[in-house]
Amino acid sequence: MAGLIDWEMLWALTTSPLMSKPQMWDDFASRYDGYSSLEQEYTWHQIDALRIEPADTVLDVGAGTGRISIPVARRARSVIALDISASMLERVRKNAEKAALANIETLHLQWDQVVPGETVPVHDVVIASRSPAASDLAKLNALARKYVYIMLFCGPSLKHFHDTLVEGINPKPLTAAPPQRPSPMPGFALLFNRVINMGYAANVSYVVDGFSRTYADWAAVWSDFAWLELPETAEDRFRQNISPYLTDSSGGLQLRMETRTAVVWWAKGDRL
Ligand SMILES: C[S@@+](CC[C@H](N)C(=O)[O-])C[C@H]1O[C@@H](n2cnc3c(N)ncnc32)[C@H](O)[C@@H]1O
Repeated sequence: MAGLIDWEMLWALTTSPLMSKPQMWDDFASRYDGYSSLEQEYTWHQIDALRIEPADTVLDVGAGTGRISIPVARRARSVIALDISASMLERVRKNAEKAALANIETLHLQWDQVVPGETVPVHDVVIASRSPAASDLAKLNALARKYVYIMLFCGPSLKHFHDTLVEGINPKPLTAAPPQRPSPMPGFALLFNRVINMGYAANVSYVVDGFSRTYADWAAVWSDFAWLELPETAEDRFRQNISPYLTDSSGGLQLRMETRTAVVWWAKGDRL
């Protein structure tokens, strides 16, 4: 369905090929896992937005450390976590083991090498969360039997929180990190229109997303963020940076940083 506006071109203009460098993601795996563990409470809002039945097979493209794959595996028959980064997938396997889940497989493959029905089988449900796979909707569509779900931040992103927490500290830089776009990102609106242009009835659910945890005291906070690999000398500055998100209550210190995620999705049977 061709329209007046070239949504595909606009999408291409807002995304960077640098986001697909495996070295960058390998370097980020430990920190991504750290942030994902703080997202567990909020990630359930995204999982609850999915129509997954116990007999369904699920493909999670650009799975990261399994933030989505792990809870989805509790509701589906099986999950394949596909990613370009070996370090991310190593963490998916560890996290699956920790969660005592035996129905998750990892697939080390880059999105460009995915050929639906050949290198990767068709699945009931396909998920691409914060993933460069959102660049090729036709391919995601060809991989799915029932539904495709794409998740994107529509408020401040993980990168925004990371930058806030390490402001003035200068942590280990990410390899080849691409220039950042300002938050909130416009991506989900473009995505919605791209799905419609493809001829499917696009849906969008907005869910509260964020990072949370309860700590006994400040020492527990500082030690929980060890994966940020900040120098000891940065503790005061880190405390200053994180304090707007900490509430002192009788139960200890409550961390809460909130944002929103858009879940853009379509059903294979719902053509326009
Ligand atoms: C921001 S993380 C998202 C992780 C997870 N889906 C989530 O929502 O938490 C993006 C993931 O996409 C992976 N990725 C980037 N480019 C890729 C590509 N070309 N093929 C497959 N995976 C890719 C990265 O390695 C990284 O694990």
